[in-house]
Order: sequence, then structure tokens, then C-alpha cells
Amino acid sequence: MSRETIESILQEKRLFSPPAEFAQNAHIKSLEQYQELYDRAAADPEEFWAQLAEKELHWFQKWDRVLDWQPPFAKWFVNGKINISYNCLDRHLTTWRKNKAAIIWEGEPGDSRTLTYAQLHREVCQMANVMKQLGVKKGDRVGIYMPMIPEAAIAMLACARIGAPHSVVFGGFSSEALKARLLDAQAKLVVTADGGWRKDQIVPLKDSVDEAIAHNGVPSVENILVVERTKQKIHMEPGRDHWWHDLQAGASADCPAEPMNSEDMLFILYTSGTTGKPKGVVHTTGGYNLYTHVTCKWAFDLKDTDVYWCTADVGWITGHSYIVYGPLSNGATSLMYEGAPRPSNPGCFWDVVEKYGVTIFYTAPTAIRAFIKMGEHHPKARNLSSLRILGTVGEPINPEAWMWYHKIIGGGRCPIVDTWWQTETGGFMITPLPGAIPTKPGSATLPFPGIIADIVDLEGNSVPTNRGGYLAIKYPWPSMMRTVYGDDDRFRRTYWEHIPPKDGQYFYFAGDGARKDSDGYFWIMGRVDDVMNIAGHRIGTMEVESALVSHPAVAEAAVVSRPDEVKGEDIFAFVTLEGSYQPSEKLKEELKQHVVKEIGTIARPGEIRFADALPKTRSGKIIRRFLRNLAAGQDLVGDISTMEDLSVLDKLREGT
Ligand code: WT7
Repeated sequence: MSRETIESILQEKRLFSPPAEFAQNAHIKSLEQYQELYDRAAADPEEFWAQLAEKELHWFQKWDRVLDWQPPFAKWFVNGKINISYNCLDRHLTTWRKNKAAIIWEGEPGDSRTLTYAQLHREVCQMANVMKQLGVKKGDRVGIYMPMIPEAAIAMLACARIGAPHSVVFGGFSSEALKARLLDAQAKLVVTADGGWRKDQIVPLKDSVDEAIAHNGVPSVENILVVERTKQKIHMEPGRDHWWHDLQAGASADCPAEPMNSEDMLFILYTSGTTGKPKGVVHTTGGYNLYTHVTCKWAFDLKDTDVYWCTADVGWITGHSYIVYGPLSNGATSLMYEGAPRPSNPGCFWDVVEKYGVTIFYTAPTAIRAFIKMGEHHPKARNLSSLRILGTVGEPINPEAWMWYHKIIGGGRCPIVDTWWQTETGGFMITPLPGAIPTKPGSATLPFPGIIADIVDLEGNSVPTNRGGYLAIKYPWPSMMRTVYGDDDRFRRTYWEHIPPKDGQYFYFAGDGARKDSDGYFWIMGRVDDVMNIAGHRIGTMEVESALVSHPAVAEAAVVSRPDEVKGEDIFAFVTLEGSYQPSEKLKEELKQHVVKEIGTIARPGEIRFADALPKTRSGKIIRRFLRNLAAGQDLVGDISTMEDLSVLDKLREGT
């Protein structure tokens, strides 16, 4: 975060209470009611979650233990039998919701489609049968590499229906990144599309899949199921590649949901950490279903009359939990949008709100800051009066952006839910409940009932009010990640050992710095590790460094982030070159392009600076703190006496 942002947050005193009428009609109506729920959950979390699990979900067979906690490994609803696709679809079919819109889809070049619960159920069953026909069995992993079209959700739900864990890879990732993820998950089937629309252009998804698995690069992949979207020419390998519309035509719509064990793996989702290789975050079935259901219902105050729109991509956890599973489990109408705001259509989001009468709108601060730049005449030219709740996620929101969102988009009447959570947490951890918790611009406010959150030091001691520290969670919750796929040890090291357990108390280390104010409100300050947050996307510095050094010109690379007005942070890379290479603008561009090829456009460095050497300690460790100062154009902060060669700094400052 920039210094100005931190300062404006520290001075933030404004408080926005839920409008009275809103509170009266909300699921959770007052601060007292929140407090009562919170206290009850804290006193007996197992009883709290068990009651909700019984009330909110369908179980084929009841669990015999709510929680089995062998730190750091948790099992929820042990021996319960459940299927999340059943909870998202089948159970609504015996109610009036059968013909309610489950998914409203708006495609970029103006296409649109609505699927009722009955229609969605039918397509999910058909795709599940097609997957079975292609040899997918319970437990087999399925890669999903899709644009934002209904078939992305259909593929996820079809996997869940037959018990095949999915691994969705964001369509903006490159073929190299896709390959690494398919290899790690050992995917047997890949579901993709001929292409997808992104900012007026076609993203050639199937070509990327072909590249990823070329030369037997991912031997586990046996079949590819291709959805027709853009109709451009692609290669279809006979016997291996199948058009979805061909197989759908002959597929039965009868496919009973497989009763899954509550702890069976539902999906793997890769996310960045401090080392080069992304982690496969594992989520399981029962606890995840319950937690995403309840958080979605309470934090968005979800009603049957709502048209709910989350602008994320299904390739991220936000899309998993709050486009697909949370909303559909509640029987809500979830809007999916393939487009993105772009110069050719800066008002496109507001057109969608007006066209469908969106009532709940959930997006990222980086998008809000981009809208501010585009000008308020765009939203002002549309009718946004249907909106009743706004949400933000992904990065800290600066109070100025919060106020603009509140006034210009929310017309001053919509509570804003600033939801703090992570891929690893599965669902919202710290968030306002819009009818109950007064909001402060820039604060995610208070923990969800059942979540024991604290700000601690590295010994696990709570830090005093208004003091910065590490955000930690002190009790298991139903949708917590279960492990890193195939690497229990990495799971333990990454999340449970930064703050060692004491007196039987374990600390989930979130990787974020935060502070708590005198009202107990949490203020998230940003990552404390080598993870960057670029436009709300999480990217490890090491990932970008590995990508850079894989280019023959690069001897050494150090990557940091610098504050950016719109994206929050931007990538700044310091690079030393191999002897025979000379710095040039052309080489800079080539290296940026190389990172795009290795990871994807989201990781394209904003700036590359060539250097003769990087600042290092005498033991050879790169001093990133200095590089961050340099990247931000600030004076160097901290002790430089540990530096090996002081002249390096002067040269870096001059830079090329
Ligand atoms: C990291 C998790 C959770 C969905 C999107 C990102 C940052 C997330 C907030 C927020 C401040 C936030 C944190 C967190 N973050 N939400 N409301 N306020 N920071 O998921 O890719 O797993 O990233 O995003 O730094 O650790 P993710």
C-alpha cells in the first residue's frame, strides 16, 4: 500500500450505519443479533455449525462427528454423505425455484443466455454423463480452462456430481502455467473452449491446451472436451478431442448425484506463495458447501428476489465460492459476465446492472479505481437504482475509492461489504453483515460468526489495539483448506509454523499484516510475505523471477512491487544480464513478453530495470526492502551496513 493510503486509513473516522429499513428486512438485523450469533458460535462452534448444517443443507446421511481436529488437519462432518451439486441443483427442483433463473449470462459481443434451475440441472447431468463416458471416475481430476460462459459452471458442477475433483485454471494463464497445473493435479480430462472473448479479442484457449500437452507433456490427459464459443478454426485431434455439442446430443439427462463423503476432495485451486511453484489448495465437500452457503446468505443478505452479480472469473476462488457454489446452493440468481471494462465500452458494467436489474454487485477495488478514472458520467448515464448491496474483495480498498463506490454507484443507500478472505479460507472470514454491522471506509470490520481472528506477534501474543501485527485464525472453520495437494509438509510449513503453536493453541498464518481498532474492527494492511497483489491478483515474486531467469539473456532477477494508482500494486523487475547481452528497450519488451508467455498477462512487469548487480547482504541474500524503496522512488529505509557493495545502490538508482 502507498504511504498516502496508509495515512488516510489511519485517519479514517467515518461510520456508516445500515439504513433502518434495510436492517429490518435483513437476515441478520442488528449488531446485537450479530453479537449474539458470534458469542454463541465462539462458545460452542461445533454445535453452531452442526445446527446450520442440518438446517441449510441436504445430507444423504448425517455425520457422526462434527469436527475431528488433529492440528493442522481438520475433518468436518465426519462420515456425513453429501453432494454439493445436489445442494446447488436437485433440491431446488421440487420447489417453485425449478423455473427460476439460476444463471443469467451476458457474453462480450452481446450474446446472452438464461438457464433456469431445471435447465442447468439438465445440462450438468448431461455433462456428467459425458465425463463418465470419457472414462472419468470418482476421484479422477479434471482440468477446466474456460472463458466466462455457463459451461464453465456446468463443468464444475458436473465434476462435483460424479465426485471428480476439478482444477480450474484461469483462462488468462499461459499454456506454460496451465501445463504446470495439469501436471501437478495429474488431470485425466481437460474441459476447454475453442476460444473466449476478452476485451474485444479472442483468447485461443484450445490452442493453449494443445501447446500445454504437446509432445506428451502431460501424459495423464486422455481426452479434451471442447465447448464451441468463438467458432474460430482450431485443431481437433481424432480420438482425443471431442466437441461438447456432439457428445451432449447423445447424452442422457439422468445422472443421480454421487453421495460423497463430507471430506472427499471437491477441488484443487492453485495459488501463489513465496516459492516459485504455485500451491494446489485442496478443498473438500461438506464443510465448504456449508460455509460458502451461509456466508453468501448472510454477508450478501441473499433473497429470492435478488439478481446477484460477482464480476470475478471462475478461475479464482471468488468465482468458485461466490459465483457458483454459494449462490446456487442458496437457490439464488447468479449473473455471469464474459466481458471486462475496456476503452471501447467503459460503461459496460453499468449497462449490465441496468439491463438485468442487478441488486447485489461484488467487484474488486482495482476495478472501482479504474471506473473512477473513466469518469462518473458513465454510471450516471445509467439507472442503477436496483442496487441494494455493494461488495469488494481482493485487496485493501482505499477510503477515497470506498466513498466513490458508496456515492456514485450505491447512490448513498447501499451498504458496502468489504470481504477479507483467501483461496485458502474458502469463504469470507472478516466481513460486514450489511444489516447489522456499521461500516468504516477501508475496514473489513468484524469476523464472521465462528471465526476466531486475532492480530498477533510471531510468538502468538495478541498485540495491543491499533498496533500492527500478523493476522491469524485461532480455531478451525468448515471451509478451511485441508492441505496443499500432494504436500502435507508444505501445508504445515506455510500456514502453521510461522507462529508456533503454544499451549495447544494453533495459529493459521494468513500472510497478511493488519491492525484492530478500539471498536475491534480489522484493518488489513497487505501481504507480509513475498506475494504481490497486482490488480487483486495474487502473484509470487519468485514466480516472476523464475520466469525471467528462464530467458537466456537473464543472469539474475529480483522482483518487487511498487504502489500503483489503479492496480494497487504493479510489478517492478531488476535484472542483471548475461555477459553477451546489452541492455535495450527491445530486450525489455522481449523480457516482459517472456513473462507473459511463462505465466500470463496478469504477470506482465510494469517496469524492468537493468542493473550491473543487485543489492545483497554479505551472506548473498537480495535486500528486497531497498529494491522496493527504489521502485517506489523513495529514499532507502533501514540499515545499509549489512550490504556487501554500497556502490551497487548508486548504480541501481541511475538505472537503465
Ligand atoms: C489475499 C488473498 C479472496 C478472494 C480474492 C483473493 C488480499 C483479499 C481482501 C480485502 C484487503 C484483501 C489479502 C489476502 N485480500 N481480500 N477485503 N481487504 N486485502 O484471493 O488470491 O487467495 O488472495 O488477497 O492479501 O491474503 P487470493
